[in-house]
Amino acid sequence: MITVNVNASKNYDVIIGENILSILPEKLENLFGRTKVMIVTDSTVHSLHYEKIKNILDGAGFENDVFVFPAGEKSKSKEVLFDLLETLAEKHYTKADVLVAFGGGVTGDLTGLAAALFLRGIHIVQVPTTLLSAVDSSVGGKTAVNLKAGKNLAGVFNQPELVLCDVTLLETLTEEIFADGMAEVIKYGVLADSDLFAKVENGNVKNNITEIISRCVEIKRDVVSQDEFDKGLRQLLNFGHTLGHAIEAESNFEIHHGTAVAMGMVMASEIAYRNNLTKENTSERIEKACRANNLETVCPYNTKMLAEYVVSDKKISGKTISFIIPEKIGKCTGVKLGVEEFVEMLGEN
Ligand SMILES: NC(=O)c1ccc[n+]([C@@H]2O[C@H](COP(=O)([O-])OP(=O)(O)OC[C@H]3O[C@@H](n4cnc5c(N)ncnc54)[C@H](O)[C@@H]3O)[C@@H](O)[C@H]2O)c1
Repeated sequence: MITVNVNASKNYDVIIGENILSILPEKLENLFGRTKVMIVTDSTVHSLHYEKIKNILDGAGFENDVFVFPAGEKSKSKEVLFDLLETLAEKHYTKADVLVAFGGGVTGDLTGLAAALFLRGIHIVQVPTTLLSAVDSSVGGKTAVNLKAGKNLAGVFNQPELVLCDVTLLETLTEEIFADGMAEVIKYGVLADSDLFAKVENGNVKNNITEIISRCVEIKRDVVSQDEFDKGLRQLLNFGHTLGHAIEAESNFEIHHGTAVAMGMVMASEIAYRNNLTKENTSERIEKACRANNLETVCPYNTKMLAEYVVSDKKISGKTISFIIPEKIGKCTGVKLGVEEFVEMLGEN
């Protein structure tokens, strides 16, 4: 079991290990006393793992309820968010009670936002069940739902009070969804740790998964503790995401977040080298690492389609793009580009 402490606007532990779901009641009791617990989970995680968490809470005498929503990105919506808020109100939850986000990034983002809104703040614990949520979305406090105009457009920063990552829950992930998480792991390696990159670049990571997740969480912790509210440094975590978000949206979310990020990382490193923004060409090694971890890297869309998305996205979020590029494996920097300049660099294919 490994504990990483995050010191942001809330100070909290991220605990990672095998078969550690059983320590949830003890941790809840230490943090909040004997509260009521609302488990928020999607339909897939509900059918695979709900009995486990319920038995653990029942066994420890914690009163608990469950809110289940349909699995998938489409549930990161204002409708599901307000269903959850109404359910909390109907069941008379109070500020002393706790929401447990039991699932992947969709569950975590949705529950984190609901926790910030309900009674202007109710306790929130993240129990990630995908690799992506373990290494990324459960830590750092970004929460959101999607709007018609785009992803994550309605959200707040709301740090969790505990993250409990039981890696045995990841054993039921499909290869494809596990691979999505590996895109974010590879991202951390390119961003900040060439040793981590070397450890994962040939695939076969499952035996070391606790250590790999912990290292990713440490890297995220280091960034978030310096720039919790995304004013500068935290944008480095968006390596591969400018184009990744465009690819995800263009596919109507058929291409998962992680796969889109893998494609986005390869494209970003190629664009950076081709346009003399970097001296080293890292794209080949990044592409190989993604492929070794079962990630598709060839973007099915032409750059014109992606450029249109980036331009319309920037109409909402600002005039310049902070384009994150790898100087070398283990170090990224951000360059500010005008939207048109960025579109020109994308080139045509
Ligand atoms: N808040 C942040 O900082 C942050 C960072 C990165 C990504 N995100 C968001 O996270 C989301 C993507 O996260 P995700 O990939 O975890 O998506 P997800 O939550 O939709 O999970 C992916 C799929 O895996 C299934 N699943 C979850 N746990 C499982 C398990 N243990 N066994 C079998 N199946 C399981 C889910 O039911 C779902 O179908 C996106 O909405 C993205 O925007 C947020």
